[in-house]
Amino acid sequence: MSDELKLTKLAQCAGCGAKVGAGVLAQLLSGLPVRHDPNLLVGYDTSDDASVYKISDDLVLIQTVDFFPPIVDDPFTFGQIAAANALSDVYAMGGEPRLALNLLCASPQMSPEAVHAVLRGGYDKVYEAGAVITGGHSIQDSEPKYGLSVTGFGHPEKIWMNSRAQAGDVLLLTKPLGIGILTTAHKGGMADENAYAQAIEQMRTLNKTARDIMTNFTIHSCTDVTGFGLLGHALEMAKGGGITLILEHERIPLLPQAYELAELGLLPEGMYRNRNFAGSHVFAAPGVSRAAQDVFYDPQTSGGLLMAVPEAGAQLLIERLTDALPYAAQIGYVSHPGEYSIEIR
Ligand code: CO
Ligand code: CO
Repeated sequence: MSDELKLTKLAQCAGCGAKVGAGVLAQLLSGLPVRHDPNLLVGYDTSDDASVYKISDDLVLIQTVDFFPPIVDDPFTFGQIAAANALSDVYAMGGEPRLALNLLCASPQMSPEAVHAVLRGGYDKVYEAGAVITGGHSIQDSEPKYGLSVTGFGHPEKIWMNSRAQAGDVLLLTKPLGIGILTTAHKGGMADENAYAQAIEQMRTLNKTARDIMTNFTIHSCTDVTGFGLLGHALEMAKGGGITLILEHERIPLLPQAYELAELGLLPEGMYRNRNFAGSHVFAAPGVSRAAQDVFYDPQTSGGLLMAVPEAGAQLLIERLTDALPYAAQIGYVSHPGEYSIEIR
């Protein structure tokens, strides 16, 4: 790897930070013809994680696609992270991934071994998920990119839309924040080795364990925290449900060093896009520092699940999640219905 060219040097924007901003995306999609189909339970109109199509009374098809430029230099690790991230949207809907197709943009500057390692990383995570890769599509591109189209199965009554949170629900998050900040700092040689290693480990961790535990509980709403940051994805949940989310800033788990780096202003461009998109609906109490808010807007790659669950049963779910996952936490609750917003206290 030492004499091999660094993958991230070929990437203009890393990981989910390369996502088109939420506001711009809404403009790009507006006015496109929408065809209605009674079996389409979730389409793109609610900004959900995946589309959901009803096959029968006990089976739905879940479909999603995600790919992006390298967020790390090691090609195998990049493949693992891109696959874990793509699979996550099926978990965020409550489903199980079954089939996956590779999406690969191979840069002529990458060695065949490096391209092969990216694909091996993808296979590694897809098999860990219990799914199979059945094909794919590869093209040449100066900027490498990798990801998957994933098809999963679920039950029509156990689909976790991002728009169904209810007043009184408890909000839980299963991975700490700060991926965009740590990977940005790493590029500049400013990230602590251990903190960066934890960020990598977290990005390649599937949301499967969390999803499998959650299926034993009532889940009103769920989404995964990726390119739009905690506040961007939380705002979609608030908007969909017509509710206010209360986030308790001291309970929100952060990766080590993320806060300090944010204080130094080491912030990815996507953080500013996310703030521009969500900022007018976010109200922070005076005690919540600017740096803390920056971390909450930080774009995550392969982030955790954000869920709204009824208060009864929430305590047991938190215990199950924290037993199995290092950083699962209750981060707030759902307040009154009405004009949607987020309050940080
Ligand atoms: Co998602
Ligand atoms: Co996605």
